[in-house]
Amino acid sequence: MIHSNVETFRWNTQTQQLEILDQLALPEMERFVPMKTVDDFVNAISDMLVRGAPAIGITAAYGIYYSARSHWNDPQKLALIQSDKIRLANTRPTAVNLFWALERIMKTVHSHLHDESPDAILQEAHTIWHEDVEMNLKMAEWGAKEIGNIQNILTHCNAGALATGGIGTALGVIRAIHENQPSLHVWVDETRPYLQGARLTSWELMKDGINCTLITDNMSAYLMKQGLVDAIIVGADRIAANHDIANKIGTYALAVLANYHKIPFYVAAPDSTFDPNIASGNEIVIEERSANEVVFIKNRRIAPEGVKVRHPAFDVTPHELITGIITPNGVIHCNS
Ligand code: MRU
Repeated sequence: MIHSNVETFRWNTQTQQLEILDQLALPEMERFVPMKTVDDFVNAISDMLVRGAPAIGITAAYGIYYSARSHWNDPQKLALIQSDKIRLANTRPTAVNLFWALERIMKTVHSHLHDESPDAILQEAHTIWHEDVEMNLKMAEWGAKEIGNIQNILTHCNAGALATGGIGTALGVIRAIHENQPSLHVWVDETRPYLQGARLTSWELMKDGINCTLITDNMSAYLMKQGLVDAIIVGADRIAANHDIANKIGTYALAVLANYHKIPFYVAAPDSTFDPNIASGNEIVIEERSANEVVFIKNRRIAPEGVKVRHPAFDVTPHELITGIITPNGVIHCNS
């Protein structure tokens, strides 16, 4: 079975606490932070201690369990859990997995409201996590079959074990290709401004012994022109009914470049990333993040004080530019 040495979540059966790998401390330090209160969950998602669409959904599901267990004997428990749900939902707007997981676990809350304990809600959170593990494995299999034994693949942001409950979406597929062909080489986009590629993806691939090279985002066109990129694979934060996808800012530019250079462009995403309620990518809310993430790198200012800044954290890639969406149930060919 395809495996990763990276784990994002641990359920501590002794303390009955979820422990989350602190992605703000990587790559310098590997430490797990125990979640103690619902506030810890809200902060973990909004401060990006944990990030990546499926991982955000899993985190929110456990947040609802914590809410349920702290209010279980209160006659107002449903209202109190609902208000925690709103706080969790208001953390980040783009990844639909957050809202999907909250809706799903709230159904369990409703159907077990009169149970003696909130155990069924904990079980549902565990199930959401374990289903994500399974979906990652299925995508890896489909993706490896679809893409075949190529030599150089490029990825953007982090769609790995750090972004999911299992081996990752895009990086799960990369792990499966690597298993068949250990000489596989991965180009890792730095992913300005938050540096998920530099800080997280290169760390994750190196930890699993996968040969990779870090590049800044503006180098990919040059490498494509040189014939050094055989395929591109990324994750997604939301997929509209017409298969337009939202993913980390810079994904759209890569897809345009891939199209020009006739390089296959793949997206890997679990069921929880599909949003059937929106017709196209135009309806996806794009998170705008702090200007500080653009003008500071590791507390060092890199632009003049007072400079105007934009920071859209995601962009939308139209389905015409996508070769295929790799799902746990097979590959959707978008432009055939
Ligand atoms: O802002 P982030 O780090 O949460 O953004 C993450 C991404 O854009 C990932 O590519 C996406 O969530 C897919 S993760 C399997």
